[in-house]
Amino acid sequence: MSYTDHIFVEYRRRVAELKASKNPLAQGVVYLEGKYVPLHEARIPILDQGFLKSDLTYDVPAVWDGRYFRLDDHLDRFEESCKRLRLRSPVGRAEMRDRLVEMVAMSGIRDAYVMMIVTRGLRYIRQTPPEECENFCYLMVMPFLWVMDEETQKKGGSAIITRTVRRIPPGAIDPTVKNLQWGDFTRGILEARDRGAQYPILTDGDTNLTEGSGFNVMLVKDRKLYSARKGVLEGVTRKTVMEVAAGLGLETHLDDVPVDLAYSCDELFFVTTAGGVMPITELDGQPVGNGAVGPITKAIWKGYWDAHYDPKLSFGINYY
Ligand SMILES: Cc1ncc(COP(=O)(O)O)c(C=O)c1O
Repeated sequence: MSYTDHIFVEYRRRVAELKASKNPLAQGVVYLEGKYVPLHEARIPILDQGFLKSDLTYDVPAVWDGRYFRLDDHLDRFEESCKRLRLRSPVGRAEMRDRLVEMVAMSGIRDAYVMMIVTRGLRYIRQTPPEECENFCYLMVMPFLWVMDEETQKKGGSAIITRTVRRIPPGAIDPTVKNLQWGDFTRGILEARDRGAQYPILTDGDTNLTEGSGFNVMLVKDRKLYSARKGVLEGVTRKTVMEVAAGLGLETHLDDVPVDLAYSCDELFFVTTAGGVMPITELDGQPVGNGAVGPITKAIWKGYWDAHYDPKLSFGINYY
């Protein structure tokens, strides 16, 4: 029995049930322009500045086993991101929350990847002052997506620290505002593939680690947990993992994380909503620690998924 059986046995059963569903929204549902549309029929207006200029912000909460996890944390971060970009969602917070719950209920999806996006809207940013544009809101619910699949979670994934690209500096794009300006990450993913690895970790160009393509990076060294304080998205998964780690009696540090620490750490893992805790057992072609998924990673992995049933952090959805 693998440590991942803890969640995956039941998850696979729910996925099979969803596949057999006759509900037209079972593969996903989108709210746009005041209507609910099946995911694969939804289209965006081509003049939306979100598409043309990546002038948008978004967030991704998830539903696990019929329960929303930390939805209010995601809504808090999303509101803050909108504020910083001077975007005003035409769908207010309370309505957005209600719709996000309703969409999951109407889709019947038990494990969902959920996305809310606010874009600048249709008017050309060059001709219209940005604050006068009427902003757009898109809400999406679809079956859960995995940044790391089950097989890889069992044995651990492979990563590189990129040489050809650094993380875009916070003075250019604020990484605490969740954004889709993925040029640096895409270059990182290409470099990882060229070097025979799955995932990139980007540095700040100044010998410290930042984050990777859609996840925060966490290291364990001498039973202490480290992750980058600045130049990264303040991840909700990371917040949960820090709480789980503290409960296990581990010291946690948000600080500058020098690249050297990654090469000498005992355990390394990535964290994100769309995947949870993702062990990395090979870095730049060398084993991390002894090359197996480590005991602290496994304990945190279990604590993280158990937290999804904690009523302080999650609530159940009343399906139709
Ligand atoms: C760049 C980046 N860092 C970190 C994360 C992890 O954030 P969270 O744990 O809130 O999903 C994400 C999630 O998509 C991300 O895009």
